[in-house]
Amino acid sequence: LDKQIIGIISGKGGVGKSTIAVNLATLFVASDYNNLLIDCDTSNPSVGLHLGIWQHSYGLQDVLLGKIKPDEAIVLHPATGIRVIPSSLSYERDTSMKNLSKVLSNMKTYNCITLDAPPGLSEEVEDIMKTCNELVVVTTPDVPSVTSATKIIDLAETNRIPVAGLVVNRILNRKYELHMQEIESLCNTRIIAKIPEDSGVPESIAVKVPIAMYRPKSPASLAINRLATDLCGKRIAQPQYANVGVFGQFINFVKRVLGRV
Ligand SMILES: Nc1ncnc2c1ncn2[C@@H]1O[C@H](COP(=O)(O)OP(=O)(O)OP(=O)(O)O)[C@@H](O)[C@H]1O
Ligand SMILES: [Mg+2]
Repeated sequence: LDKQIIGIISGKGGVGKSTIAVNLATLFVASDYNNLLIDCDTSNPSVGLHLGIWQHSYGLQDVLLGKIKPDEAIVLHPATGIRVIPSSLSYERDTSMKNLSKVLSNMKTYNCITLDAPPGLSEEVEDIMKTCNELVVVTTPDVPSVTSATKIIDLAETNRIPVAGLVVNRILNRKYELHMQEIESLCNTRIIAKIPEDSGVPESIAVKVPIAMYRPKSPASLAINRLATDLCGKRIAQPQYANVGVFGQFINFVKRVLGRV
């Protein structure tokens, strides 16, 4: 494999894919793991919203339509240093993901690409899956979400795309939740991360700093850090967040552009 392409997928919506994708990217970048994050959810793009970047003029849709080159769509996020191809917020129906694979294979600079997928079992999701060489299936510990997860795992297997494992998110450890063994046996797939319900997550989204950087010691951050370590096979550094204000962020941005950080 010349690069690792990790798809963050789920059957059911709202289980935490975008949160996990953004935080994995934050941790990869903090560890000098050359990563690009792509928002493949063209209907409800949220990576840009999590990171507070919405002034971008281009999005993935323009790349897929061949209007611009992938490099021209990359935005550098000042606070984290993540390089991201956002999806454009303007509603465009039926953006085909058929070209995604070609777009990615032409990108040489990155040794890891993280894709945030839309929910569901659509043809679009299948096309996204086919561009990946590793899938992370996200679920919450309840029957509807796990049932959906089994379907998306089947779809991955039909397409012979390796599933790295299940991430169970928003665990409250309540009696009514499915047990981890039940989830593993229903999905016939190994759980590679257990992420607790953590009020730091919605808070971090509101302040637009990924929780891995905003609250690196919080329970959710520690769990996502272990997942990142597993996925890239090396120890992950803790991202440093200095609340430096707008000017400080600008300075950091300039330093990064100049390669001084
Ligand atoms: N571990 C967690 N603890 C608390 N809240 C969480 C956690 N993970 C995610 N959330 C909340 O769940 C909501 C949905 O998360 P997110 O947008 O990441 O899900 P998604 O799977 O990408 O959704 P969609 O399918 O719509 O793209 C967010 O508002 C977020 O604050
Ligand atoms: Mg999402």
